[in-house]
Amino acid sequence: MIDPYGIAFGSFKTRRVRMTDAAGLFPILSDPERMKYMPEPVHTSLDQVRQTILAWRGAVLFGVHILVVEQDGMTMGLLSLNVDQHGVAIGYRFLPEAKGAARRSVAHIAKWALQYVHRVWGYCHVDNIPAQRVMTRAGAVFEGRLHKWAVFPNVSSEPADCFVYSATSSHIS
Ligand SMILES: CC(C)(COP(=O)(O)OP(=O)(O)OC[C@H]1O[C@@H](n2cnc3c(N)ncnc32)[C@H](O)[C@@H]1OP(=O)(O)O)[C@@H](O)C(=O)NCCC(=O)NCCS
Repeated sequence: MIDPYGIAFGSFKTRRVRMTDAAGLFPILSDPERMKYMPEPVHTSLDQVRQTILAWRGAVLFGVHILVVEQDGMTMGLLSLNVDQHGVAIGYRFLPEAKGAARRSVAHIAKWALQYVHRVWGYCHVDNIPAQRVMTRAGAVFEGRLHKWAVFPNVSSEPADCFVYSATSSHIS
């Protein structure tokens, strides 16, 4: 059983998302730029953020872990880890001021997860350049283009092409 809560790396630490995170996560979930390639709508109230957190906490039953990444006790961003038969799919969203935190977190958590599974992977919209940079800078390998892979409701109701990246037990040292 994978348990990604309480992983410490440098001054960073992961923990399970809590209902009391609503205010700390509002700046991410209410920012149209940060939400552009996310599956949820842009949030407009703390109550809406609480509803989302409730759904995220429930998703653990389906193997989806939503982690808050803190640095010195301050919220920096979120990681999602979706554990299934292919390995661990990773997602991430961070505050604009948390420069470098996404890359460091993805790199560390991917390496950590590869103790338990053979494959850590993620996809992002072909136009989401910062997300692609996070993957490559974290040491993941570009695998290819997934045609009409996912709907990004804040962009279009049509599925968009995505790039897929992975770190595997044979590619990461
Ligand atoms: C993805 C995300 C975590 C990246 O955060 P970040 O690392 O602080 O982002 P930055 O603004 O530093 O950009 C990352 C890199 O992309 C580069 N970049 C950003 N926009 C760019 C553009 N339009 N063209 C070229 N390069 C660009 C930056 O220069 C930086 O390069 P570096 O790695 O050489 O330093 C953040 O943008 C985010 O939370 N986005 C919303 C959620 C999301 O889209 N998540 C990904 C899908 S799971």
